Amino acid sequence: MFLVTPVKKATRLIGVLVWDISLTFINLVTPNRKEGHVTPEGHPGVGGVWPEFVAPRDGDSRCCCPALNAMANHGILPHDGRNISFKELNRTIRATFNFAPTFCFLVPNVAADMLKKSYSKDTFDLEELNLHNGIEHDASLTREDVHFQADQGVPHLPFIKELLASATGKDKDGNPLLTPTDLSRISAQRRVDARATNPEFSLSFSHKMFGSSNSSTMLTIFGGRIRDLETILIEERLPEGWESRIRERQGLTLVTFNRTVLGVEFGINEKKVVPTPAAHSDDAARPSTQKDGADAAQL
Ligand code: HEM
Ligand SMILES: *[C@@H]1O[C@H](CO)[C@@H](O)[C@H](O)[C@H]1NC(C)=O
Ligand SMILES: *[C@@H]1O[C@H](CO)[C@@H](O)[C@H](O)[C@H]1NC(C)=O
Ligand SMILES: *[C@@H]1O[C@H](CO)[C@@H](O)[C@H](O)[C@H]1NC(C)=O
Ligand SMILES: *[C@@H]1O[C@H](CO)[C@@H](O)[C@H](O)[C@H]1NC(C)=O
Repeated sequence: MFLVTPVKKATRLIGVLVWDISLTFINLVTPNRKEGHVTPEGHPGVGGVWPEFVAPRDGDSRCCCPALNAMANHGILPHDGRNISFKELNRTIRATFNFAPTFCFLVPNVAADMLKKSYSKDTFDLEELNLHNGIEHDASLTREDVHFQADQGVPHLPFIKELLASATGKDKDGNPLLTPTDLSRISAQRRVDARATNPEFSLSFSHKMFGSSNSSTMLTIFGGRIRDLETILIEERLPEGWESRIRERQGLTLVTFNRTVLGVEFGINEKKVVPTPAAHSDDAARPSTQKDGADAAQL
């Protein structure tokens, strides 16, 4: 089999970190990309023009990650969400979101390991990422726990609306912005509610870190902008004219990203929130359906 040994994994991680630190340094001493020119020439989305959005059809494979689903919905990844190579993820995440090459190399490798697949040879379907407590975990901000909703490819509107409504920041034009403190508070709320209602609840320390790192992309790549987040989280679509808010030449490095992630994770204080009363009613256990997603598209 292709199982990567612990020694190989550790060597890979050290190599990636050294590479990442040098990219972080290069970012410090090189000018940022110009606004409107973040997406590289020759890639989908250049000049803010994204390939046509087509909502998922029956039989298409989707997962718990809004960003990967959005890439499939625009045909940047195969629209059916199937037979995707890990290398293809490396390349497309880099060009679409301006994550640093280190992140784009490491994350698909970690995902391949978790799925017991080979990064360089194998392919996967998006739904395989829904492997519970492998990669997918409880208390997400955009999905009901798997106990209530087996299909983790479906966005859960009530949670997303609560998240968007929790934003307290404003940009210079008065548009709402999600702040790190907002994200910590809403994550604490979700963890307390999930703990109280889900009889199968579990959330290990590493899954907490993964959770905070996933949600921190809302602050970094999406710049906390509620209008954009509404489109990406509810419809799983990239807004027209959108580009990554990360303008550093080498993209968002692991070292830089981790500062945001650690701030969010260590800002989470479950003792400070009270369980949502509705979270105890039968209402909360109502599985959301694909129809919820379709309704969302009309918002
Ligand atoms: C190889 C690349 C990636 C993989 C394997 C991946 C995997 C995942 C998984 C498994 C989840 C669900 C975790 C959970 O249970 O809550 C998730 C959620 C998420 N991911 Fe990704 N992801 C990738 C890239 C990205 C990128 C590039 C972005 C942003 C530009 C992103 C943004 C998000 C967001 C916003 C969530 C939702 C978090 C929540 O519901 O709490 N992901 N991702
Ligand atoms: C999957 O993609 C590879 C090329 O990346 C291709 O050779 C193969 O035939 C595809 N398999 C299926 C089942 O579509
Ligand atoms: C992943 O992408 C980076 C650049 O974005 C590239 O340097 C690297 O060779 C790629 N790795 C593989 C094995 O595809
Ligand atoms: C999201 O979480 C998964 C594991 O749950 C991880 O592999 C991936 O790196 C995370 N994505 C981001 C953008 O942080
Ligand atoms: C940063 O976060 C990534 C996961 O997003 C992790 O693999 C890496 O070890 C962390 N540490 C540093 C110093 O970058």
